[in-house]
Amino acid sequence: MNTSPTLQWIANSLAKGTADRKNLDNLFPAEAADEAQRFHHQIPGFGATPLRRLSALAAKIGVKEILVKDESLRLGLNAFKVLGGSFAIYKHLQQHHKKEQPLSYDEIRSHKLYPNGEAMVFVAATDGNHGIGVAWAARELGYQAIIYVHQHTSRARIDAITRQGARVVVVSGTYDDAVRQAGADAKTNGWQVISDTSWEGYEEIPRWVMQGYTTMLAEARQQMAAEGIRQPTHVFVQGGVGALAAATVGYFKQLYYDNPPRFVVVEPETAACLYSSCRLADGQPHSFPGKLDTIMAGLACGDPSPLAWNILRDYADIFVTCQDYVAARGMRVYGAPIGDDARVISGESGAVTLGALLTMMQPAYTALRQKIGLDKNARVLIISTEGDTDPEDYLKIVWDGRFPLPENQ
Ligand SMILES: Cc1ncc(COP(=O)(O)O)c(C=O)c1O
Repeated sequence: MNTSPTLQWIANSLAKGTADRKNLDNLFPAEAADEAQRFHHQIPGFGATPLRRLSALAAKIGVKEILVKDESLRLGLNAFKVLGGSFAIYKHLQQHHKKEQPLSYDEIRSHKLYPNGEAMVFVAATDGNHGIGVAWAARELGYQAIIYVHQHTSRARIDAITRQGARVVVVSGTYDDAVRQAGADAKTNGWQVISDTSWEGYEEIPRWVMQGYTTMLAEARQQMAAEGIRQPTHVFVQGGVGALAAATVGYFKQLYYDNPPRFVVVEPETAACLYSSCRLADGQPHSFPGKLDTIMAGLACGDPSPLAWNILRDYADIFVTCQDYVAARGMRVYGAPIGDDARVISGESGAVTLGALLTMMQPAYTALRQKIGLDKNARVLIISTEGDTDPEDYLKIVWDGRFPLPENQ
C-alpha cells in the first residue's frame, strides 16, 4: 500500500531575493524574449494559445483568480515544447549564416544557407513532446531529425514523432539514458544535438530552448494585461529537467523584479530531481535515482539541467512533489468545468500544477499556504503544458477513473 503523503513541499533556503542578477541577465536578457517572439510569429499559422480564466473554480477553492495557459492548442502539436526546439534550431542556423542581418524564416526554408544541398541532421532525446517539437521544426525548415526515446515511451508518443517525419531510435533505460545515447551517436556521426537539458560544455542550445519558451510567457503577460490583470501573485510550474520552470521563473522575475510572484515548482514524487536538489541545499543540482516511474511522462527526468537549476536555486520559492493521483485529479477537474469556466484538455504532465493547487487548498496544507500567502486574494497563473498527448491513457484517467484519490482524501 502506498502511504506517502499526497504532496510534500520544501521552501527554498537558497533563494536570493534581489541581490545578484548575473545568471538572470545572462540567460534571459530582454532582447531574447523579443527575438523569440519575432521568430515564432513568422511561422505560418502561428497564433497565441488561449489564457483560460477559471473564475468558478477559483471561487470554489478560495482564491481570487485561476489563470491557465492552455498549451494543448500550440501549433496543432498538443504541447508547448515546440517553442523551444524550433527557436534553438533557428538560432543555430543563424549562427552558421554569420551575417549582420538575420535570415528570415522564408530564407532559411528556401535553403539559402546551404545552397549546395549540404544536409544537417538534428538529434534530440525526449519523453515525447520535445522530440515532436524538434521533428516538426526540422521538417518545417527542410532538415532531417532523429529522435531518441526510452524503452517505456508509449506507442502513441512514438507515432506522434514519426508523423512529423523523424526517425525514432528506442534506447533501453530511462530518459536520461536516451539523452546520453543521443549525445554519443551525434558525436560519432557529426549530427547536431538539440537538447532541452544542458551539461558541462553544452549550454548554448539549451539556453536558446529556454528562451524559446518565453514566447508563451510573453503571450500570458499580454493576455493578462488585456483582461486588466497587472500581474499574478503566484505562478505554478511543472518540472522535468527544469528548463520550462527556469524559463518561467526567469522571465517573470525579470519582468516583475522588485515584486515578483511566488514561484512554486511541481514534480512527480518518483522523479523529483529539483526538489531533491533543493533539499540537499548545497547549491548544486543532484540526480534523482530510480526508475522514474510516473504517469507524468514529460516530467520523468532524474537529472536536472544545471543551467536551469542555477535559476531555480536562486529564485524559486517552493518545491513540491506529488503523487500520480494528484495529476489525474487535475486532468478530471480541467475536463469537467463548473459554472461558465472553459473546459481544458490537459494531459498528465500538464494537469499536475492544477492538481497541486487543489491539494494545497486542503486544511492539511495551511502552513504552506501561509508561507506563500496563498489566500483569497491570490491570482494564480498555471500552465497546462500539454493536451491529451497519449489519448488512450487520457480517457482511461478522465472517463474510467484510473488513479483515483485514496479513500481518506
Ligand atoms: C508536457 C510537459 N510539461 C512539462 C515538461 C517539463 O519541462 P522541462 O523538462 O523543461 O522541465 C515537459 C517536458 O518534456 C513536458 O513534456
